[in-house]
Amino acid sequence: MKKVLLILAAIIVIVVIGLFIFIQTGYDKSFDSEYPVTELRINPDSAMIEHGRYLAYGPAHCAHCHSSIDKLEALERGEEVPMTGGMEFELPIGSLFTPNITPDKESGIGNYSDGTIYRMLRYNIRHDGQACLELMPFFNMTDYDIHSIIAFLRTREPVKNERKPNTYNLLGKFVRTVALKPAQPEAGIPNKIKRDSSSAYGKYLCEAVANCKGCHTERDLKTGAFVGQPYAGGFVMGPDKSTQGWTFITPNITPDPETGILHNYTEESFINRMRGGRVHTFSPMPWGPFSRLSDGDLMAIYRYLQEVKPVKNKIEQTVIMPEES
Ligand code: HEC
Ligand code: HEC
Repeated sequence: MKKVLLILAAIIVIVVIGLFIFIQTGYDKSFDSEYPVTELRINPDSAMIEHGRYLAYGPAHCAHCHSSIDKLEALERGEEVPMTGGMEFELPIGSLFTPNITPDKESGIGNYSDGTIYRMLRYNIRHDGQACLELMPFFNMTDYDIHSIIAFLRTREPVKNERKPNTYNLLGKFVRTVALKPAQPEAGIPNKIKRDSSSAYGKYLCEAVANCKGCHTERDLKTGAFVGQPYAGGFVMGPDKSTQGWTFITPNITPDPETGILHNYTEESFINRMRGGRVHTFSPMPWGPFSRLSDGDLMAIYRYLQEVKPVKNKIEQTVIMPEES
């Protein structure tokens, strides 16, 4: 009996050690061989660069995450603050820091090829081959838009700012080892999409560019998986450093007449609200970048949201003060 117990204990110890080694050696695995960097060379014209600027400081809100929290106010005022990174996201799996995406050769993207940055936006794979949690939702963007953004980034002033390494706890390493995969873009993404005020373009903005769906749908923060109905709200953000201790819960933006907040808006008042900027200082919603959206883009978003399936989901409170949480 004693011998059996000893053997059992030994097996458990071996399994635990094995699992530990598996996680420690697997969490930073590289996807370079499955997703090699392509030989892409973007040849932009000035219209593409301007379009890239509009996307990066507007709907795609790169600047909102890739600047430090003390630059947020300047960004909200309309300044094109350099995208030097440094914003921290505290998640159940550890802490992620945004990197410097100015063209500095040592600390930024100056030495990354077009193909390297393209792979990040299309597949969420970093320059070193590691897959990222789905914080950046651009994998269904058109090539034209991705190329425009990359071309614009190249025109910026290089600024030195070393990247802070991400830290993962054991849960984070486990999730990364067993569940984390590169993003899976949809089949048949067009090379370029017609930009007009139609709901079709609105859908593209909400899902592939501005991440309205990503934030206004309940998700599991450990894996990033969607667990709620699209646009029905309930995704909890914070309290953490980026929200300065506040907790935010996204409202339901489906057209449900009782529980969806969109019901309170006409097209005109929606555009005014989006232009109006933030009410809550530390809300994670990128109000500054969104206030720069063109009328046509905002109309397109409004029109699309009217077509989303109405979902009854009452969100009692969207903001909780630090003392209460
Ligand atoms: C919601 C926040 C958020 C937004 C919006 C965002 N990023 Fe990021 N980005 C991150 C985080 C966090 C990382 C680090 C991921 C990691 O290391 O796992 C990152 C990493 C990157 C990298 C990877 C650098 C490398 O190591 O290879 C590039 C390039 C990048 N972002 C460019 C962009 C561009 C361009 C945009 C706009 C189109 C953008 N990001 C918008 C949060 C964001
Ligand atoms: C990074 C997460 C995030 C993204 C991306 C995001 N939202 Fe939000 N949104 C929030 C949070 C959190 C709130 C509640 C706090 C607030 O009002 O700032 C909110 C509030 C709102 C409100 C209510 C404002 C009010 O005053 O009642 C509307 C409308 C809205 N979002 C629409 C959108 C649309 C449209 C998009 C895409 C263009 C979008 N959001 C993208 C997080 C996000």
